[in-house]
Amino acid sequence: MILKLLFTITLFFKVISSTPVPPKSSDSVQFYEKRYYDYSANEPIRGLNIGGWLVLEPYITPSLFEAFGDDVPVDEYHYCQTLGRDEAAIRLLEHWGTFYTEEDFKQIASLGFNLVRIPVGYWAFKTLESDPYVSGVQEIFLDEAIAWSKKYGLKVWVDLHGAAGSQNGFDNSGLRDAVNFLNYSENINITSEVLEYILQKYSAESYADTIIGIELLNEPLGPSIDLDKLKNDYYIPAYDYLRNTLNSNQNIIIHDAFEAYNYWDDFLTLEDGAWGITIDHHHYQVFSTGELATTMDEKIQTACQWGTGVLSEAHWTVAGEFSAALTDCTKWLNGVGIGARYDGSYVKGSDTSYYQGSCDNNEDITSWSDERKQNTRRFIEAQLDAFEMRGGWIFWCYKTETSIEWDASRLIEYGLFPQPLTDRQYPGQCSN
Ligand SMILES: *[C@@H]1O[C@H](CO)[C@@H](O)[C@H](O)[C@H]1NC(C)=O
Ligand SMILES: *[C@@H]1O[C@H](CO)[C@@H](O)[C@H](O)[C@H]1NC(C)=O
Repeated sequence: MILKLLFTITLFFKVISSTPVPPKSSDSVQFYEKRYYDYSANEPIRGLNIGGWLVLEPYITPSLFEAFGDDVPVDEYHYCQTLGRDEAAIRLLEHWGTFYTEEDFKQIASLGFNLVRIPVGYWAFKTLESDPYVSGVQEIFLDEAIAWSKKYGLKVWVDLHGAAGSQNGFDNSGLRDAVNFLNYSENINITSEVLEYILQKYSAESYADTIIGIELLNEPLGPSIDLDKLKNDYYIPAYDYLRNTLNSNQNIIIHDAFEAYNYWDDFLTLEDGAWGITIDHHHYQVFSTGELATTMDEKIQTACQWGTGVLSEAHWTVAGEFSAALTDCTKWLNGVGIGARYDGSYVKGSDTSYYQGSCDNNEDITSWSDERKQNTRRFIEAQLDAFEMRGGWIFWCYKTETSIEWDASRLIEYGLFPQPLTDRQYPGQCSN
């Protein structure tokens, strides 16, 4: 009887002590034995994005899209719709099984990176009746990638990159041009169901030493959507589900939605009892004519401000996407059928651009001037310095079929990306 009582009391305390409570100070973070990954107490995130793999992007794997000749589908949705699900499945299975393999994860770890961010669309898990997507297979590859990451000591962010109806109208959300995620409750419902599945599955104890963040949604287009609706109908229910239904101490990652620094400071705050939130900022300087036209010194200055800009933010921050791009010349970077602003060939609606320089031979390193190479290395180093002022960085992408500016593996091969990652040819760019 007494033994049984003791057992019950012990069990009671076990249950109590395993229930997550918000950390009051950095000391109490130690109570989070495994899962609660304390970004501020560890070395900066130095990561890579596994872009263009489980979510197609024409500029990352142009060969998949060039196969269509003159009538190129603009995104994965139309890729699958044009081919039909059976043929799309054959081609996508080939892509998923070859574009990334165990060797890549081994290589990523040996180059000194410590994390991979893996984008996946809602359609990998569940589809709307009207969807043409291939579904139900990506998960096998995702799980394999997580297992390889674990094997080679890499941490993982699982990143929900596409919501039903699209959260931004970018091709990388699966469906280009429309932004209808929050307009129809069936879109919110199916995306939330998928998110709950992801939260539940990838917060399991067996993943605790590997998966240190789940990104609720990539790049919702803040200025075009109802952010209060996003918070109330999507983010808060997901947070609630994670902490109160799953009782998990998983970290959640929230993209800044293209809002200014400090915008998220009063959302899911410690004062409200919320915790384990990291804000993900993405930074590029090639998606407007004005940014492309700045001088190299101005670009470096902007990059350094990306570092100082987040220092006062209430939540922990990581720069979850950035690149080496000083031009937007990579074919289809702006989307299939849309040219480059850099050489003035950009045509989209009433947007115009003007000639700033040639995009010819952009992907041939032997055609790059020494100055361009130096500028690229300078730009990368300044960004790493800036982002390491706080939580670190995740470069977009590890590899592409043909691009240089978006491909860490090629940049490393050409000596434009530091090896080791802490090496600097241009030290102290952000400390002046
Ligand atoms: C979405 O979910 C809500 C809440 O469960 C439900 O009331 C609504 O009918 C659903 N919408 C659709 C289109 O299924
Ligand atoms: C979708 O929602 C946005 C933001 O609330 C609104 O501006 C837009 O008109 C809506 N689109 C449709 C098709 O209802």
